Amino acid sequence: MTLKPEMRMVTLTENSAGLRREVLAEHGFSAYLEFGGRRLIFDSGQTTTAVHNARVLGVDLEGVPIALSHGHYDHTGGLLSLLKETGGVDVYAHPDVFAPRYSRREAVLRQIGIPFRREDLEKRGARFDLSRRARELFPGLWLTGEVHRLAEFEEASEDLVVLSEEGDIILDPILDDQALVLVLKGGLFVLLGCAHSGMINTLEHARSITGEETILGVAGGTHLGFGGEYKLPKTIEALRGFDLEILAPSHCTGFAAASALRSEFPEQFVKNSVGTVIEL
Ligand SMILES: [Fe+2]
Ligand SMILES: [Fe+2]
Repeated sequence: MTLKPEMRMVTLTENSAGLRREVLAEHGFSAYLEFGGRRLIFDSGQTTTAVHNARVLGVDLEGVPIALSHGHYDHTGGLLSLLKETGGVDVYAHPDVFAPRYSRREAVLRQIGIPFRREDLEKRGARFDLSRRARELFPGLWLTGEVHRLAEFEEASEDLVVLSEEGDIILDPILDDQALVLVLKGGLFVLLGCAHSGMINTLEHARSITGEETILGVAGGTHLGFGGEYKLPKTIEALRGFDLEILAPSHCTGFAAASALRSEFPEQFVKNSVGTVIEL
């Protein structure tokens, strides 16, 4: 007899398309979760791919609440199209999710914040529930709140900036960066958005807010594709201490870091693309 899985995750938006007909990929991330009889959408992707792929993959989005990992366009740009499918739902996020953000690679400022005004999303049914703190959205399902940044190798990126209230362009601490944490019988499953606070910091934070030491699985964006040459070996070293069963990085992990993780953790590694399903 096989036990019914406690959780099910379906990747709706990711930078690569898995072996599924008619799904679409884009730079971004979105996942659909079922856990404890509840459903949740985590991030929206950049455009309409989450909605398109949900249809192709047979995922019904009606009435499903949404949680946002942070305000970058590749995690929030699909919100309007998602809201058309979900109808009026709660949207859980951090208050900085609306910050006016930019990337300044090659000295050019490019807007990378949430591409909607709060009012416009509210008109389409978004009921924003904003908090800086860790909170249990449903029994056993946590949104981490601000992640404490303790690992010295996981500092903020120099390329990401924000317009301050005084009108200055300053380094963006991306305080809104947060992850989802599911408390399963055998340990935690952590779903990352972009992990701007650092993957290892996020895993430690997940332990501290839930009081559960074992981490069974990690999926989602690790941001190791940016500044990864420096962070990657230290991240791998730290990951060895976690004894994971599943390591399913995606999105901003990038090809080089994903390949390195695959060769370091061949048993645990799952290529997490559009259409990937993880059950635990
Ligand atoms: Fe991001
Ligand atoms: Fe991202």
